[in-house]
Amino acid sequence: MKVLFATSEAHPLAKTGGLADVSGALPAALRDLGVDARVLMPGYPAALEKADDLTRILRIRLPEHGEIGLLQGRFPGDGAPVYFIEHAGYYARKGLYQDAAAHDWPDNAMRFGLLSQFAAWLAGPGSPLDFKPDVLHCNDWQTGLAPAYLRYEAARPTPTVFTVHNLAYQGIFPPDVLKPLGLPPESFSIDGVEYYGNISFLKAGLYYASRLTTVSPSYAGEIQTEACGMGLHGLLAARSQELTGILNGIDLREWDPAHDPHLPAPYSADKLDGKLANKRALQDELGLGPDAHAPLLGMVSRLTQQKGSDVVVEAVPQLIELGAQFTVLGSGEIELENAWSRLAAAHPGRIAVKIGYDEGLAHRIEAGADIFLMPSRFEPCGLNQMYSQRYGTPPVVHRVGGLADTVTHASPENLASGAATGFVIDRLDRASLVDAVHRAMALYRQPRAWEKLMRSAMARDFGWAGRAQQYLDVYEKIRT
Ligand code: ADP
Ligand code: GLC
Repeated sequence: MKVLFATSEAHPLAKTGGLADVSGALPAALRDLGVDARVLMPGYPAALEKADDLTRILRIRLPEHGEIGLLQGRFPGDGAPVYFIEHAGYYARKGLYQDAAAHDWPDNAMRFGLLSQFAAWLAGPGSPLDFKPDVLHCNDWQTGLAPAYLRYEAARPTPTVFTVHNLAYQGIFPPDVLKPLGLPPESFSIDGVEYYGNISFLKAGLYYASRLTTVSPSYAGEIQTEACGMGLHGLLAARSQELTGILNGIDLREWDPAHDPHLPAPYSADKLDGKLANKRALQDELGLGPDAHAPLLGMVSRLTQQKGSDVVVEAVPQLIELGAQFTVLGSGEIELENAWSRLAAAHPGRIAVKIGYDEGLAHRIEAGADIFLMPSRFEPCGLNQMYSQRYGTPPVVHRVGGLADTVTHASPENLASGAATGFVIDRLDRASLVDAVHRAMALYRQPRAWEKLMRSAMARDFGWAGRAQQYLDVYEKIRT
């Protein structure tokens, strides 16, 4: 089985969020199953710098896009093969999708239209490569046009899988980009790329791909409802027989508290004492009071409405009064960044806020915090709640999407049976959140019960192996 995996970001080459984690780990897990999985992504200069064994395969000129190069390399450390599209005008900038002021780049339709066009070309019959994929696997709106190109350009289109990592980002552009994107006029239809008078890359993927997947079973159900379908529930419900929810895994080597180069002290379920050393070091690093007994609440997140951090902002003063310390690492909407900075200024030594992106600190918060907060409004899958469980930092989550599928609530029965791994709230509001964190803090103050919860969380298997097999099952169904 040969699979071309098209994506706009992949860890450790380029990352803004969980899509990169998945794009870095899933192709490798597929290769472990014997699949020849290769990645295609934009050749951002920082990504090219990190790749191994880079060689240029070809150069071409396309009238609407200009000069383009195609390079082949590997993920660092003898990893999966990657093809990079080199285009100085499109990809050599800081910010994958947005400028420093968080405005979308005005030419995103062309930038990711080109990615989609290359995905279709390299997966289709006209490909210049020796590698002939059985399946093209596309991810999110940035690659959504690829199944459309294949449909219009090939007599027998290569089968495609389109994975929705987040329905909230749809890649919507005015209709006049249809022509420069090289799509035929007939594609601009309700049975096609058209969406309320515009072009939607996401809808194109949902409409033209042979199979659809999304990143958790619960989210697969939610997006078929009007409340969560973001305008696309009709199409999704119509294709529900071809839609599968497959949970994301986590990279067990990258996220392993016993061997994590970002941590000052390693620890494991058998040797938990190292965790306290991480907490002390984190308090020191962030300027929090050196209080071993104050429960330290942590959050690592894009600061957007999706993640519910506005509700956390409302709840934090009460949580601080209950004796907690708090740290958040994130960046995003300016109002949320400001709200967090004001809270930190009002509670020095008790609330530490880092605005920005910091991979090492993300690991140290997962390890040094006692309780992780992730009360998302919606969450297709979510990775941080899995990282935190593996790091013995029980999460408080909202019962939606992948959070519902990966965290077992600490009810009295689940605590007694050893199934509990975190705290799950049914409503997202300040009172429910304060109540849940309050209960978590009460349990934290009973060391034996808390250690049992930590160990159950750490014992959960979040590895990719079984989940990659589910993707392979989908590929097998559509292979011609
Ligand atoms: P999403 O993709 O919706 O942002 P996920 O939980 O799936 O949410 O993945 C987020 C990923 O991005 C995780 O690997 C997380 O550690 C990382 N991350 C998010 N914000 C930051 C940040 N400010 N600094 C470092 N890593 C971050
Ligand atoms: C998106 C979703 C997140 C998911 C990630 C990887 O960014 O918001 O829930 O974990 O994609 O699939």
